[in-house]
Amino acid sequence: MNGRVHVCALTDLEPGQAIALSLGKDRYGLPLQCVVALDESGHVRAYLNVCKHLPIPLDGGTGEFFDDERTHLFCGTHGARYRLSDGRCVEGPCQGAHLDPVSVEVIADEVFVRWLPDDD
Ligand code: FES
Repeated sequence: MNGRVHVCALTDLEPGQAIALSLGKDRYGLPLQCVVALDESGHVRAYLNVCKHLPIPLDGGTGEFFDDERTHLFCGTHGARYRLSDGRCVEGPCQGAHLDPVSVEVIADEVFVRWLPDDD
């Protein structure tokens, strides 16, 4: 997998909901996903589904990416909360760290991410 990956129609994204997309495997052969969601301003954002505290998925496989208020991405393991607009951890053990961003393109109301897997 490389280059531009289709995610969904722009109208499929709703505030407080996320779409998880497989990006294949990481350099260690483990499944890798990104999380695609609208930010506070309605812009589409995408981040790797990997917490910055420990290298595990934010949702722990549950498919739930938001906090109770549905305003921040949330790590279910130790409760880190991440701002949607820039992926910054605003609360939790990795406060101040940023989720790894994935480049987003919206073309003709269709959402894509740009992803080039590691070669090694
Ligand atoms: S693993 Fe995410 S907050 Fe600890």
